[in-house]
Amino acid sequence: MSDSPSGKISNVLNETRIFPPSPSFSQQSSIGSMAQYQAIYDASIQDVEGFWAKEAREHLHWFKPFETTLEWNEPFAKWFVGGQTNVSYNCLDVHVNNGLGDKVAIYWEGEPGDQRTVTYSDLLRDVSLFANGLKKLGVQKGDRISIYMPMVPELAVAMLACARVGAIHSVIFGGFSAEAIADRNNDAQARFLITADGGYRRGKPLSLKQTADEALAKSPSIEKCIVLSRVGGGTSMQEGRDVWWHDLIDGVSENCPAEPMDSEDSLFILYTSGSTGKPKGIRHTTAGYNLYAKRTFQWVFDHKPDDIFWCTADCGWITGHSYIVYGPMSAGATQVMYEGAPNWPQENRFWELIERYKVTILYTAPTAIRSFIKWGDHHVDKHDLSSLRLLGSVGEGINPEAWMWYYEKIGGGRCPIVDTWWQTETGGIMMSPLPGAIACKPGSCTRPLPGIIPRILQHDPASGDLVDVGTNSGGMLCIEKPWPGMLRGIWGDDERYKQQYWSMVPHMYLTGDNARQDEDGYYWIMGRIDDVINVSGHRLSTIEVESALVSHPAVAEAAAVGRPDEIKGQAIAVFVTLKSHEPTDEMREILKKHVRKEIGALAVPDDVRFTSALPKTRSGKIMRRLLRDIAAGKEGTGDTSTLEDFTVLVRLRNDDES
Ligand code: WTA
Repeated sequence: MSDSPSGKISNVLNETRIFPPSPSFSQQSSIGSMAQYQAIYDASIQDVEGFWAKEAREHLHWFKPFETTLEWNEPFAKWFVGGQTNVSYNCLDVHVNNGLGDKVAIYWEGEPGDQRTVTYSDLLRDVSLFANGLKKLGVQKGDRISIYMPMVPELAVAMLACARVGAIHSVIFGGFSAEAIADRNNDAQARFLITADGGYRRGKPLSLKQTADEALAKSPSIEKCIVLSRVGGGTSMQEGRDVWWHDLIDGVSENCPAEPMDSEDSLFILYTSGSTGKPKGIRHTTAGYNLYAKRTFQWVFDHKPDDIFWCTADCGWITGHSYIVYGPMSAGATQVMYEGAPNWPQENRFWELIERYKVTILYTAPTAIRSFIKWGDHHVDKHDLSSLRLLGSVGEGINPEAWMWYYEKIGGGRCPIVDTWWQTETGGIMMSPLPGAIACKPGSCTRPLPGIIPRILQHDPASGDLVDVGTNSGGMLCIEKPWPGMLRGIWGDDERYKQQYWSMVPHMYLTGDNARQDEDGYYWIMGRIDDVINVSGHRLSTIEVESALVSHPAVAEAAAVGRPDEIKGQAIAVFVTLKSHEPTDEMREILKKHVRKEIGALAVPDDVRFTSALPKTRSGKIMRRLLRDIAAGKEGTGDTSTLEDFTVLVRLRNDDES
């Protein structure tokens, strides 16, 4: 949260440097000047529906053309109604039919160093085989399938095979715990789970199947579990429930025509954190999402047929869905996919990969960039990174220091940086420089993409009405009109969808982020308006962490807050009151382990502080702002080793907070 003690959103960033693209970069770009961007943008927002209709006709394959561009029954959107397409067809068959079957789709590298090259023909064959395997197992259109896998090509194959037969996938990041997997299986009522015996992370095989087994014990809707053999060495298979991937595809046909899907059939559910404890299943559909992922990929990365693209995200997050699988593959791109950690076996692994595969576009996260800075320039200096022509950043705001390092050290001062702002809910990038057209300012996501109309609103202090804020004032970032990539809802919870995104600001999509617009019309994201924190570019709700803590029998009450962290952006600090147990270091470790078990490693608190009571306002609300200040070290209580006492601070603050 970036609110100041007075409750006003203060603007602390005062970055004035500006980096236009070089003339040679602009010349080869499909959108090569500010005037050109502005013309496309202006035309797009003058006739939003007409704009997207034309895009959809030109950039997707239609088994049956659509009749209505948009049916807007606020807040429920239907795009390209009446049309039929298939996302896997757009990602695979289209290219093979165009004679591009031999083009490399994926250069994959496993963490131990194993390498595979997968062409578009290979991928079409593998997806068709697996899709036929799914059918053999009884998978039907509309079934939900959870996927819990390492970053191997089969993860993309599994997603595309679901899309091919019309099943709805729900990819669960490999770092989530059994509890978290079971919650997601149950919420989606998934019938199938696709997993692997393991995957490599920092030199060790992670036994995904063991975690999956624990989850399956609590997932009654799951009938079958498909297991890919990635690490080997055997894993326990439950008779009648578990089937090996290689056995499933043994003897099935290599031919599996893509199922014509209605534009609004669900493509996937992806769970993300909101401001309450229960993760929400964000639902995306077929045609609109496909179009948006493809076109934003082409615009933002100014993609050329011979580019070698590398997005370092995991397919367990939206970035992997949109910019590893669906965007790049719809565009027929060649990309690098890497299984493991950036520091294995050494901290130069990324630079080694870029040099080996001659990567031209790198898309990574600020938290990774900050780690690279810490690890030292000598890891970079050993490698030839001259193949790079464009850099990207996603997941959180990039601080200007990290931006400058990325620009100079990795980009050699010649590569524009696309700082892409978007969300799981938006399906694809919403604001970003178009690299040949829009000059970068470190820390700003610059301008909206075509068809996207951002607004920044705030309650007028005098009248209480919602009004657009002026230049350089912070406010709630909203999107004025529906766009094809937008979420269609929260799985099974229309009420929550309405309440979360469409109630606070009437007739607009509420992003949950604060932002400001500067005198050049550039947008700057200023953090969340709710209790969502951003740890290493991943969203977590403080309430999820709190719920996990209070589920431990020793805990009476808990409050979680974000505090600034040099590498992760935000770290998680928790304040805990115990029932009758001693506040020991051992108890700290027990609670950390407990959160790891309930949610996963990504939610483990960095600081566990014990307090005799949580600081509360007179009306009984936890004083989160005070806790954030304490966690950040701005407000001291002296002794943090045993039981802290916030009563004095509460007395000092109470008038201000209540
Ligand atoms: C934050 C990730 C500043 C923001 C694609 C958003 C960013 C949330 C940026 C979505 C950026 C993402 N600058 N903040 N370039 N990109 N965010 O759903 O708070 O995992 O609302 O999607 O991350 O996170 P999510």
